[in-house]
Amino acid sequence: MLTLKNKVASLIAGAIADNFGSDILTAAELAAMLEYPPDKAMGDLALPCFKLSRSLRRSPVQIADTLAGAISDSELSEVAAVNGYLNIKTEPTSFAKRVVSDIQSQADSYGSPHTGEGKTVVLDYSSPNVAKPFHIGHLGTTVIGHSLKLLHEFAGYKCVGINYLGDWGTQFGKLIVAYKLWGDRSTIEKGGVDELVKLYVKINNEIKAEEDTSVQDKPEGTPKHSELGDASRKEFSKLEQGDEENLALWRWFVDVSLEEYQKTYKLLGIEFDSYKGESFYTDKMPAQVEKLRNMGLLEIDDGASIVNLDKWNMPVCLILKRDGSTLYPTRDIAAAVYRKGEYGFDKAIYVTSAAQSLHFAQWFKVVELMGYDWYDKLVHVPYGTVSINGAKLATRTGNVILLKDLFSEAIARVMEIAKEKNPDEEQCRRIAESVGVGAIVFYYLSNNRMRDINFMMEDALSFDGNTGPYAQYTYARTCSVLEKVGRDAAMTDAPLGEHESALAKTLAAFPERIIQALADYEPSVVTRYILDLCAAFNRFYHECSIANCENNDLKQSRIALTAATNQVLKTALHLICMQSPEKI
Ligand code: ARG
Repeated sequence: MLTLKNKVASLIAGAIADNFGSDILTAAELAAMLEYPPDKAMGDLALPCFKLSRSLRRSPVQIADTLAGAISDSELSEVAAVNGYLNIKTEPTSFAKRVVSDIQSQADSYGSPHTGEGKTVVLDYSSPNVAKPFHIGHLGTTVIGHSLKLLHEFAGYKCVGINYLGDWGTQFGKLIVAYKLWGDRSTIEKGGVDELVKLYVKINNEIKAEEDTSVQDKPEGTPKHSELGDASRKEFSKLEQGDEENLALWRWFVDVSLEEYQKTYKLLGIEFDSYKGESFYTDKMPAQVEKLRNMGLLEIDDGASIVNLDKWNMPVCLILKRDGSTLYPTRDIAAAVYRKGEYGFDKAIYVTSAAQSLHFAQWFKVVELMGYDWYDKLVHVPYGTVSINGAKLATRTGNVILLKDLFSEAIARVMEIAKEKNPDEEQCRRIAESVGVGAIVFYYLSNNRMRDINFMMEDALSFDGNTGPYAQYTYARTCSVLEKVGRDAAMTDAPLGEHESALAKTLAAFPERIIQALADYEPSVVTRYILDLCAAFNRFYHECSIANCENNDLKQSRIALTAATNQVLKTALHLICMQSPEKI
């Protein structure tokens, strides 16, 4: 439709130049004024001519009448003036012919706005905290982040996907103590990150118990104390000072955790370009702290070093604790400066839960105050919470549901159904993986990212809702039609009916939806587009016979429309991290 909008806009610009004088309005300005009428009977595009009254010094009715008489094109069946509106209808056959030939010639790049050429985007997403559970709260950052990466790649940006692992901090002191007390190498080698989490949970409980006992029967206000807490702090500072034994343990903990995360990433088809985690920035923070101090931006508040953000109605941004240790914002500032130097980004995107919105607003402001002129290239993309109904479906660790369990559950369920139909175990597994994982991703990305989601496994896996399996099934249907009739067909001049025409219009809408998804950092725009396209294709499929169509010209057009749908669906599914198996 975008191409249609641009085309109509330049026709109108020409008609204005001919009838009212040149250089009054550009085609781009006119394209922005064109609207899609809510009632399709009015036309496919409309120009509200009151928007031109000022520049053309005529009434909307006069303008609409003049333009209606001055515009004609083979792709348009009607250009009518109605009450100061210019209503434009497309001629279904030539319109569809052009759309399908665009799709054929552009193939995998059909829909790309090509806005990113020569530009670099850095995306910070997923970023779990080592030795803490990788749970469903991370689904959002992982799939929204990756989908945004794919969308930017599609638009031509060079993309750098960064997994900013939470691989540093006092939790490692605790983990080292816990491992030395209760841990065992082979158990962890076998059980992986789950065993680390167990140790971490255990030491936290023990510390809390010690602290509670330490104030029992003591006067109110007695400070809490825990031996294990002290030991943990000691081990962490040994680690900070480069103690060999602790460093080796830390590296091992990180590796064990990464190995586990990789399994989930592999299911999702995610690869990162960098795993530089928080630990990498330890020696990069002092320079930024120095800069803040030299610029007079640091204030001492109760012993801590802070940047006051009163003027911007935000709480202070903490840079150093009383004991001089650095904090989450300090690290993020150092990391942004490093990434700007390393990648020269045109945009840096951070995908995290909305709970961190204030953190990002604060340190973005600090970067601005520090005089970095790229502060406005930093973008925080937040998302809402996820909960799960019917929690018994998933294995629980403490109170959280692990991401890998959510995926395994979905895969196992699809596997059961697949096995009934297909005896080949290996093939079943592959299908079950792409359908099961896809179902979860699709379900999650169906909603605006800020919406809080209550996950329902049954709904996600259903084949007859607006689900991932339904979308993949529709794609497989286009494949099986094309397998039967071949895909080398071009649109002919055979007159098209309502369903073919509606399908062509939906195909034409793809480029615009991509622009919107990118502008709003909103993969759900693509998910909803997929549903529109599936609905239009399935209506066409049920109403119009393809293989058995008696009119050969019409048959060719229908095959070409099916091949175009196949192409666009494949691209769109890919952009939301979904696979498109040819058979289901
Ligand atoms: N590791 C953090 C967490 O799990 C997320 C990191 C987000 N990225 C960033 N640059 N702060 O909450």
